[in-house]
Amino acid sequence: MKKETEKKGIGVCKAAVWLAMPFLAVGAAFGELADVESRVEEVLSRLTFEQKVGQLWQCLGKDMVEPASGDMSGETLKESFLADIRAGRYGSVIGKRGVANYNRIQRAAMEGVGIPLLIGNDMIHSVRTCYPIPLALACSWDEDLWRRIGEAMAAESLLEGCNWTFTPMIDVAFDARWGRIAEGGGSEPLVTGLMGAALVRGLQGADMADGLHIAACAKHYVGYGASLGGRDYNAVEMADSTLRNVYLPPFKMAVEAGVATVMPAFHSFNGVPCSASKYLLRDILRGELGFDGMTISDWAAVKELVNHGVAADGADAAESAINAGMDMEMVTPCYAENLARLVKSGRVSMKTVDDAVRNVLRVKFRLGLFDHPEIDEAKVSAVVDPAENRALAREAARKSTVLLKNEGGVLPLGKGAKVALVGDIAANAWQMMGCWNTKDMSNFENATLLDGLKADGIDVEYSKAYTLRGRVDTEELEKALAKADIVVAAFGDYWENSGEGNSSAKIELPGEQLKVAQTIKARGRKLVAVVFGGRPMAFPEIAELADAIVMAWNPGGSGGWGVADVITGIAEPYGRLTVDMPSASGVCPQFYSRTTTGRPATFSRKHPFGRRFTSCYNDASLKAVYPFGYGLTYSTVAYSNEAVRVEGDTAVFSVDVSNTGSRDASELVQVYVHADKASIARPRRELKGFRRVALSPGETAHVEIRVAVKSLGFFCDGGRFELPESFTAWIAPDSESGRPLQFAAK
Ligand code: NOJ
Repeated sequence: MKKETEKKGIGVCKAAVWLAMPFLAVGAAFGELADVESRVEEVLSRLTFEQKVGQLWQCLGKDMVEPASGDMSGETLKESFLADIRAGRYGSVIGKRGVANYNRIQRAAMEGVGIPLLIGNDMIHSVRTCYPIPLALACSWDEDLWRRIGEAMAAESLLEGCNWTFTPMIDVAFDARWGRIAEGGGSEPLVTGLMGAALVRGLQGADMADGLHIAACAKHYVGYGASLGGRDYNAVEMADSTLRNVYLPPFKMAVEAGVATVMPAFHSFNGVPCSASKYLLRDILRGELGFDGMTISDWAAVKELVNHGVAADGADAAESAINAGMDMEMVTPCYAENLARLVKSGRVSMKTVDDAVRNVLRVKFRLGLFDHPEIDEAKVSAVVDPAENRALAREAARKSTVLLKNEGGVLPLGKGAKVALVGDIAANAWQMMGCWNTKDMSNFENATLLDGLKADGIDVEYSKAYTLRGRVDTEELEKALAKADIVVAAFGDYWENSGEGNSSAKIELPGEQLKVAQTIKARGRKLVAVVFGGRPMAFPEIAELADAIVMAWNPGGSGGWGVADVITGIAEPYGRLTVDMPSASGVCPQFYSRTTTGRPATFSRKHPFGRRFTSCYNDASLKAVYPFGYGLTYSTVAYSNEAVRVEGDTAVFSVDVSNTGSRDASELVQVYVHADKASIARPRRELKGFRRVALSPGETAHVEIRVAVKSLGFFCDGGRFELPESFTAWIAPDSESGRPLQFAAK
């Protein structure tokens, strides 16, 4: 039986035609825009210079409470701080205060200068409820899931006293050594951009001013994921074409989704720190992408222009940043201390200051803050159902988990299977959380993988036997092995070793994990390796030894349940990698979409790492152990009748996909292309579209993926757009497989 694919699959064209799309803020009809603009002008016209500068400063909330490190949600705001708010000394605060303090701050602001504050914090993948880390969420390839998570996080953020979050992080990242790869969508602009835009839509809602949504912030603008050597905060050197083809598209998609704010990144871009780059902030972000919201510096990034060596002092830094287009300064006081002098001496124009204030006020009006400065706690509470959010977190964990290997059908574990579970992380709920868990999380299951397996009906005996970074207790491991035929071993790394400021020169599994795997196999046991962590990791030997491998990432506060649901088959595997799993640290950055070379590596039995005089290493394979897009189901799926046709300005990629196994399957059909000839060397393959299809055993679906022909083109240096004449396409289950199909684009 054939069926058409479900409509709920990702609408690829939406993303693919970005070049042609107009820029419009969410819900911004012309009348509303004009109204906001006139209200902005009215407020601006009554501000003193000091009050204008106040709007451009985000202060550190931690210093505004007593005691500074104490409970920040109690009635602890300093009177002196409230007096500063009344005087209009700050436009924003960073930190969570709870609704009561939020409302006190806004009342003080309205009594005084009459401008409510943006109160922002990092709600990256968790507020009260903790979802999987973004890199894991990306592996769901599920726009609707991302939007619903954004929506749920928005309401919980309001209950924490925040109307703004520094989410989504949409830095395309190729290098597994970079700790912050955990925070984004992986190595594909298309997936990263779709996830960012969906999060923006969820966080901001259809109407950001409805009292149930908050302002989002697209970050880190731009190219941060290309830090040299995968080392955080490091310099970035990048061709203009790479900027436009790879790193900008997710920001363009976020702007099109109406993102309210953008955060420039810490690094220097071709020598110019992003925080002081007129080219990036004014020419591209505002001029080309049409962004009319507000930019906020990263933490102390204005002051750090001095460390970069492009500013002599705070005054110099303030001058460079505001002239480049940085509207608000996070934490450090370079603007507050220097703008008066800078304007007086003509180094910064009054218009530049006014424009920055306009951008801040525009966001505040769009958020509806002037009309309802306080949070209506009852209204927000009515839409927050903690149980529903936990269920969403569990669904997200299920959908983020990727089945990488399943030899002999060892998974799913049958009910009543006698299983030994080993490894410290398998019984540690905190280790499910991930790098941006918020300290005051309250809505999580506190469930471990052990709890999840038990709850799903598995007869499991747990033994710690080893810690991820420590030694194996051989005696304990042997005891565990004596009792079971199947061993589920929890591998990977702790979440504290990924995220900001956590880059790593080694991405191999630490400690004695390989020895654990070898011992399990030496005793003739089936090995199910469940890998936790916040980055792609290298475990080629374990991949070889294990009977099954489950990539669990940092699955969040309901992760123990969600991952167990996949292992036991209560949920069918759904996730597909959005990064390559490299074979070794030394091959990083390793990614399928690398540019073609004059001497591409050729592999053979004799030359498993690649032949001499080809672009390879002598001692490690360039081939990903598991490639981008890869992930198995518990069934088997076959592709046939792949074809491409061009209908006007749309390329239609079609295929028949059959479930040839005996279980339901959720298949993710992917389209990759390569330009046969172009004026610059291009990626060997690039993802251009995808569609998910649910298949019952024996069922065949005819899948069509429609992509705007224009989206197959690319930018050359100098901004020239080129659309090659012919392409090779692969309609495939991952980035390395499929049958090549040639087609002409014009
Ligand atoms: C620094 C990080 O780079 C950024 O992602 C975050 O939003 C800010 N700190 C604020 O905490």
